[in-house]
Amino acid sequence: MSTDYHWNSRIEYLKESRGSMWNDDYLEFLVERVWKIDRPVSVVDYGCGLGFMGAILLPILPEGSTYTGIDKGGGLIEEARSLFEDSPWEATFIQADLEDYEPRADYDLAVCQCVLQHIPHAGIILDKMKRSVVPGGRVVCIELSRDVGNAAIYLDGLDYAGLNVLGAAQKLRSRDLERSGKDFCIGVKMPVYMQQAGLEQIGARMNDRVTFVNPHGEQEEYRRNLNSFLADYSTVMEMTEDRRSDVVRHLVERGLSEEEAVIVFECERSMAEYLREHQDKISIVDAGCLFISYGIRPAL
Ligand SMILES: C[S@@+](CC[C@H](N)C(=O)[O-])C[C@H]1O[C@@H](n2cnc3c(N)ncnc32)[C@H](O)[C@@H]1O
Repeated sequence: MSTDYHWNSRIEYLKESRGSMWNDDYLEFLVERVWKIDRPVSVVDYGCGLGFMGAILLPILPEGSTYTGIDKGGGLIEEARSLFEDSPWEATFIQADLEDYEPRADYDLAVCQCVLQHIPHAGIILDKMKRSVVPGGRVVCIELSRDVGNAAIYLDGLDYAGLNVLGAAQKLRSRDLERSGKDFCIGVKMPVYMQQAGLEQIGARMNDRVTFVNPHGEQEEYRRNLNSFLADYSTVMEMTEDRRSDVVRHLVERGLSEEEAVIVFECERSMAEYLREHQDKISIVDAGCLFISYGIRPAL
């Protein structure tokens, strides 16, 4: 397996961005009140990265629950193993490409978070998740819809709506899907795909986390939230005037007209410039808008 796998170089990004993804009390609510998990379960996490879902689920799940993380990135798996080494939790990590992985119905709960959008034709992976759980077991997919997430940001002082963030970017996502089979708006579609995959009792929720990056609050928390926001916008932050022609050409290759490509570039460049200029005192409200879809594998 290639050692220069993209996600292996994103360990710091994963560490910085994960802290502001969930309210623990909401995950607890899902486990106890929505999914009603009241006995130990075995969990498999598709595209586990550093095992973040294990780290937040295991303290909430009934004692005796176990966690298995699967990821293609050898560097990630190594780091995940060391992060769990001294923890009280039973966690196992497997390095595998999900596209080749052959599931067995060994688990009670199969989860994935922010993974399916990176894999072409993700329906095949959803089917594997279903086959990973015993009949009556549960599949949970936590995925973004970039168009929804991008619309739910407020950068104080910047005319964000006037930047026309959604229009051309929405077309870009749809062209990317046609070209690569990767769907960056998969979150909102997951309940339908679960239905088509033969899951039952399908439900969907939305992660209730809204991050307020508040420069007037406690400084350490401000820095942490700001860094987490900037980590998610790292590609936007690279938009500078001298990159205009390269970025516009790349966007045109991805299916936009020249005019639309300029709009997307201008939007991202203005955001990056504003963030760079104001990062000592900027107020940001950011609703992650993660869609949480779940369903049950029918009994045989
Ligand atoms: C955005 S990260 C999410 C990581 C983790 N689920 C989390 O929420 O912190 C996407 C993860 O999907 C993994 N991934 C993407 N395609 C994969 C594939 N074909 N097989 C295994 N893992 C894959 C990447 O290695 C990466 O760790």
